[in-house]
Amino acid sequence: MRQLKLSRAFTLMESGPVVLVTTHDGKKSNIMTLSWTMVLDFTPVFAITTGEWNHSYAALRKNRECVIAIPTVDMLDKVVRIGTCSGADTDKFAKFRLTPVPGKVVKAPLIKECLANIECKVVDIVRKHNIVVLEGVAAYVDPARKEKRTVHAVGDGTFIVDGRRLDRRKMMASRLPAGL
Ligand SMILES: Cc1cc2nc3c(=O)[nH]c(=O)nc-3n(C[C@H](O)[C@H](O)[C@H](O)COP(=O)(O)O)c2cc1C
Repeated sequence: MRQLKLSRAFTLMESGPVVLVTTHDGKKSNIMTLSWTMVLDFTPVFAITTGEWNHSYAALRKNRECVIAIPTVDMLDKVVRIGTCSGADTDKFAKFRLTPVPGKVVKAPLIKECLANIECKVVDIVRKHNIVVLEGVAAYVDPARKEKRTVHAVGDGTFIVDGRRLDRRKMMASRLPAGL
C-alpha cells in the first residue's frame, strides 16, 4: 500500500448521499447542501455537521427543525450551486426554481423536485464538533420519479453516482430489524 495524505483520509469515508436541508426562520425558507451526514442506528435519527458559518444555522438553532430533502443526479449542478451561495442574500427557492411544499409537522418546507423528504426536529447539538442530531418525524418519497440515483460527494469537488444494488439481505437477516 502507498501512503495517502492524511488530509485526504476523509475522502475514503465521505460518500453518503448529498442532501439538501431546508429551514424556515419565521419569515423566509432557505436551503443548504450537506454531505456530512450520518445515520445513527435503525431509528430515524441522523447527525449532520454544520455551524454558524452558514446562514441556515441560525434558523436551525432557533426553531430546532428542518427538512432533509434527497436530490438525485439530474439535480447535481443545482445542488452544488445551492451549496455555494447564501440565503443571507439569495432566495434559493426562487433562484433555483424549486417548489416549497408545506410539511405536516415542521415549518421548514419539503422540496417537491426531490426524490424524498424527511421532516426533522433537532434533538441535540454537540457544539464542540458542530454536530446537530436530528430526529425524523415524517418521511415522504415520490414514487412517480424516474431518476432515483443519488449522488455521493468524495469531498474534493467530485461525486460518485449510485450504481448497482447488491442484495445480501439473507446473509444479514440475523442483524436486521424484523419487517425492514
Ligand atoms: C457538495 C456540497 C456539500 C456540502 N456539505 C456541507 C456540510 O456537510 N456541512 C456544511 O456545513 N456545509 C456544507 N456545504 C456548504 C453549504 O452548503 C454552504 O456553505 C451553503 O452556502 C450554506 O447556505 P446558507 O448560508 O444559505 O445556509 C456543502 C456544499 C456543497 C456544494
